[in-house]
Amino acid sequence: MRFLIVSGPTREPIDPVRYLSNYSTGTMGRYLVEAAKARRHQVDWVECPQTVETARDLLRELKRRLPKNDVLIMAAAVCDARPVAVSSQKIKKEKLSTLRLIKNPDILQELSKSKKKGQVFIGFALESGNLLKNGYEKLRRKMLGLIVVQKVVKNNTPFGDKLIDAFLVDVCGCVEPLKKISKKKLARLLIQRAEVLARGVSPRC
Ligand code: CTP
Repeated sequence: MRFLIVSGPTREPIDPVRYLSNYSTGTMGRYLVEAAKARRHQVDWVECPQTVETARDLLRELKRRLPKNDVLIMAAAVCDARPVAVSSQKIKKEKLSTLRLIKNPDILQELSKSKKKGQVFIGFALESGNLLKNGYEKLRRKMLGLIVVQKVVKNNTPFGDKLIDAFLVDVCGCVEPLKKISKKKLARLLIQRAEVLARGVSPRC
């Protein structure tokens, strides 16, 4: 099967020296690529910000690559907003307090409009509250087959190579809790689940 794996943080330039981004390290993506290759799948890897930097460029790139792939695993941490304008000159610090932001496109939601029958999308959700409700709502809105929901609060974030607590939520709303799982193990599990979903096997419930 052909897997399109998207990982890492996107960046939004402010001026020639500054950008907006997030704490994502891209660890999950690296393990997903390793796990998919170990199962002899073809892997098309988009690693942010190296392959593409901004959310809008990422959307363009994924629209181009998606038709050739059976599975999309969207582990990228996309910046939800960007500066209204990118300054070609360094902005003086006194002026930074008036920096205006505009919302970026929701990439998965946009891609779901051209999702082909049989294609499988898997996404991630970071939530500080109402984990399962919000995660399931994201799964529906973005037309995912499966979503990995993780809790994020100050001093307890899932960024980096560490054991995490997560929930797998499927289209039926069935929830599988995963306690203290490594990202390597989670990656292997997600590749297996993607294989099952791509074969058209319905969830158990
Ligand atoms: N995602 C996306 N496009 C965005 C933001 C997120 O495709 N502009 C994807 C992420 O890669 C992830 C999923 O959508 O697979 C959920 O991301 P998350 O940050 O949890 O949710 P958001 O949709 O950004 O919503 P909010 O920040 O309001 O929780």
